[in-house]
Amino acid sequence: MTEKEINIKFHEYSSLDELNKEDRELADAAIDAMKGSYAPYSHFNVGAAVRLSNGTIVQGANQENAAFPSGLCAERTAMFHAGATYPDKAMVSLAIAGGVMGRLAKAPATPCGACRQVMAQYQLKGGRPMSVIMIGDGQIWKFDRVDDILPLIFDSI
Ligand code: THU
Repeated sequence: MTEKEINIKFHEYSSLDELNKEDRELADAAIDAMKGSYAPYSHFNVGAAVRLSNGTIVQGANQENAAFPSGLCAERTAMFHAGATYPDKAMVSLAIAGGVMGRLAKAPATPCGACRQVMAQYQLKGGRPMSVIMIGDGQIWKFDRVDDILPLIFDSI
């Protein structure tokens, strides 16, 4: 038996001002997208923004439904919109922001497992790394590729 270890590297920032110009623009778009959240049940507003290889930014927000599983997270709303509208463009970066009553939470917005799997697939489809930026109030994390937040990605079929 050999014990193995998986290490995850990421960047932490204490302010949006520390981000580079492109990431800052994407982060602002994710925060702005929180306005489109429809969350009458959880009251948790999530906004997401995807940057495509041509520079276009596509936004999404969580959409809830009385039949709970019919709702969708902000990240998948944004990625599915981007995938359907710009099928030939790679998704190069995704930013996520979340909070209650439209106010950014302190902790960075971490995506659910299902959204990570969808990110993994679009990263594969795009053929280049997709960075993931998780935004909190005074704490921002950036991961350079989806592999860093979903080790041992399922892509075997
Ligand atoms: N939510 C997202 O939109 N993204 C995530 O990564 C986690 C959770 C939404 C789903 C639901 O509308 C609300 O947040 C509470 O779970």
